[in-house]
Amino acid sequence: MSNPPSPALLATLMDRLGPRGFTTEPADLAPWLTDWRRLYRGRAAAMLSPAGVEEVSDIVRLCAREGVALVPQGGNSSMAGGATPDATGEALLLSMRRMNRLRSISADANVAVAEAGLILAHLHDAAAEVGRRFPLTLGARGSATIGGLVSTNAGGTQVLRFGTMRGLVEGIEAVLPDGSVFNGLASLKKDNRGYDIRQLLIGAEGTLGIVTAASLKLVPAIGSRSVAWVGLESPRKALALLRLLDNAVGDAVESFELVPREALDLVLRHVAGTRAPLEGGHDWHVLIEAVAPMVAPDPEKELGRALRAALKIGVAEDAVVAASEAQAEAFWRIRDSISEAEKKDGPAAKHDLSVEVAAMPDFMVEAASAVEARFPGTRPFAFGHLGDGNVHFNVRAPLDADEAWLGGEAPAVTAFVHDLITAAGGSISAEHGIGQMRLAELARLGDPTRLAAMRAIKNALDPKNIMNPGKLVPPLDAAQESLA
Ligand code: MLT
Ligand code: ZN
Repeated sequence: MSNPPSPALLATLMDRLGPRGFTTEPADLAPWLTDWRRLYRGRAAAMLSPAGVEEVSDIVRLCAREGVALVPQGGNSSMAGGATPDATGEALLLSMRRMNRLRSISADANVAVAEAGLILAHLHDAAAEVGRRFPLTLGARGSATIGGLVSTNAGGTQVLRFGTMRGLVEGIEAVLPDGSVFNGLASLKKDNRGYDIRQLLIGAEGTLGIVTAASLKLVPAIGSRSVAWVGLESPRKALALLRLLDNAVGDAVESFELVPREALDLVLRHVAGTRAPLEGGHDWHVLIEAVAPMVAPDPEKELGRALRAALKIGVAEDAVVAASEAQAEAFWRIRDSISEAEKKDGPAAKHDLSVEVAAMPDFMVEAASAVEARFPGTRPFAFGHLGDGNVHFNVRAPLDADEAWLGGEAPAVTAFVHDLITAAGGSISAEHGIGQMRLAELARLGDPTRLAAMRAIKNALDPKNIMNPGKLVPPLDAAQESLA
């Protein structure tokens, strides 16, 4: 149990951080106390905005002394309520947005060292300026920050070739729960000095420390890219197409995003200026991006040839390769607008599922039928990162339902979907994290051995439970505690 901050602590923090780094003004705090999806609303005693790692270290040390909780926050784009404080108002919100420097960037070393508050799109721009690229992107790139991306092991629409943040973070600087600074920024290709603290902090959602900076891997800049929109009959055919492309185009294929008819319809209905890329209706579509570095062969030719082969053998129903950058961007806009369109359309129970890649096509079709049968009137649809075995399996409320559905039938739908993916050997959180949204479900369905190890690590590093409490690590409930 954490404590509320004493007036003396608040005064010390105000003094240490100055007016730009400390506020209790309700108007300053308000935008940051609600998550992006507006599912959680919290309170905080103050918002702290440190300007450097020394200030973060002092904040953590002072809070540890009094047992005051800290909730770190970057761009506030968590999909799981991971950066929203609880309703007690006792925690301090730790905004990392002022620490937004790019400390260094080197095309020779292929590494950028970015502070936690740097916005992803700004890193993309900086990498382009030195002829390189940071190969991870997602719809929220204009607001998501490096610290949040590291702390949630973010994925997104370009994981296929270069992996999630775990594969792209080469070093980390972080403040641990006692205020000490872990200086692990060196980008070492090989390092066998024991436990990988860096990997422990990636995906820890701020529960083991505050990530203040990261060394990030850069890859060659894109010389040319080719973006195609393909209509297909089924997710099975989509996966068959991906495997065909593996052979024909190799790892130039960096995105392979599945879009069902329902998701396209939602975007066309709710997002101005969008139009269907193909004439004629298809139940399923994929958006494909193939890229080549500066001097490599033209991906358009390769992708075009492979898609013609796919059409010939019936793997694809129709396909169009973007004829210009503007058209490529228009295809991507459809894909990146799905969440926004869905939000405008009405309530939905959202799920972020993964299973072995080869098993996903059948899983998603069978799970959709099972949900429809069990909850008549609901409208499941799944979209996203089929090539990663990860789809967002969302279940829209029946047409006559209103927002109350989210607190009514939706939790039972979620439990049903999570039971199905768990039985299939998959994960209830592929890329969005646990936050507070999936905490109870992780407690219910998580492997006890894994949960016990997580709790042991958490207790060892953060015995006072001041780092983002109530997120990611399910507490032992009373019944389990009496058995323990
Ligand atoms: C996406 O892939 O579009 C994001 O993860 C967001 C979402 O699931 O809504
Ligand atoms: Zn996603």
